Amino acid sequence: MTDAQPPKSPKAGKTPSPQPPSSPISPRLGNIDAPIEADTADADSVYASSVVTDTTSLRSSILAYKWEHGRRYHAYQDGAYWGPNDEKQQEAEDLSHEMFKIILNGLTLAPISDDVQNVLDVGCGTGAWAIEFADAHPSSQVIGVDLSPIQPSFVPPNCKFEVDDVIKDFTYPDNYFDYIHIRSMTGCIPDWVQFHRKALKHLKPGGWTEHIENSGVVRSDDGTLGPAMAQWWGIFDKIGKATGKTFGIAETLPDVLKEAGYTNIVERRIKIPIGTWPKNPDLKHWGAWNRQFILQGVEGFSIRGLTDCLGWTYEEAQLYLVSLRKELTDPKIHAYLELAFYAGQKPEAAEESTAA
Ligand SMILES: C[S@@+](CC[C@H](N)C(=O)[O-])C[C@H]1O[C@@H](n2cnc3c(N)ncnc32)[C@H](O)[C@@H]1O
Repeated sequence: MTDAQPPKSPKAGKTPSPQPPSSPISPRLGNIDAPIEADTADADSVYASSVVTDTTSLRSSILAYKWEHGRRYHAYQDGAYWGPNDEKQQEAEDLSHEMFKIILNGLTLAPISDDVQNVLDVGCGTGAWAIEFADAHPSSQVIGVDLSPIQPSFVPPNCKFEVDDVIKDFTYPDNYFDYIHIRSMTGCIPDWVQFHRKALKHLKPGGWTEHIENSGVVRSDDGTLGPAMAQWWGIFDKIGKATGKTFGIAETLPDVLKEAGYTNIVERRIKIPIGTWPKNPDLKHWGAWNRQFILQGVEGFSIRGLTDCLGWTYEEAQLYLVSLRKELTDPKIHAYLELAFYAGQKPEAAEESTAA
């Protein structure tokens, strides 16, 4: 199961595009070209808990959720998405939302104007990002779209949620959005270049798309990776090939965005530790959130793919997950993931017509 080679990660700075003057992520923290120093006296830290969300009332067919192995899945476009939508998985999503906010020191990487108007959150999940963005930007009208109607019904007046399949043509007008937000959609889209061309069509000239993805490749710089962790990428590579929706988007995002036609691409790639092993207190903090997110989400990330796509028995899958959880909580293992933060702008109309 380990035959697949992890995709090569693009080096920081490879994209010949400007960094924003005030990139919210410190250039020092998680630098992908530097090893993270381990804390030899790691005392571990306390994990934060998360918000449990409510559900909206929608048509019964959309709510006729499917249960498999004790986990609950979306009903609309049954089988399209690999993850459960139950409370356990929503808590994992909320943990990752908090982690992203800590890393970005806010909600966005793209330079958002104060009077931002139409905003789309693609695959909005629990809706936490859309709600907080709407609250922070009263000028905006935020639409969150997802296969699952799991978002709260008590939301700011400038935020609404829709159930739809983002692989289909958008029902929104062309040149409509100022800002499109995409986060953690790996393994969900069959053709990312095509998807981003569609996003560009619906962006206003000068509008921004932000796309954030976690790499599926678990890495370490000192050879301490455990065998279950080393197996992780090979598993997801196979699941992505079986479903036709790659899990390697974090590695190819720079090329995808360029090919789709964005300009002024902003990139930030960082190492995000798994666990509290780094010496640096900020990285230790990130690592605590990341590990808790993975521990909470790991069964949901993988159980459907392992059983339905790869044909493992439920017992085989659970045994693998036991080994993985042991490694995730082993302080001698200095593992990390790469996080890819990108933002790209739709060319202004004049630029577009000059290029054409
Ligand atoms: C890993 S979650 C990420 C949620 C959210 N973007 C975040 O960062 O917290 C992926 C979400 O994408 C949604 N999704 C997957 N495929 C989709 C599709 N074709 N159309 C709409 N939503 C989709 C799933 O239902 C799920 O809520």
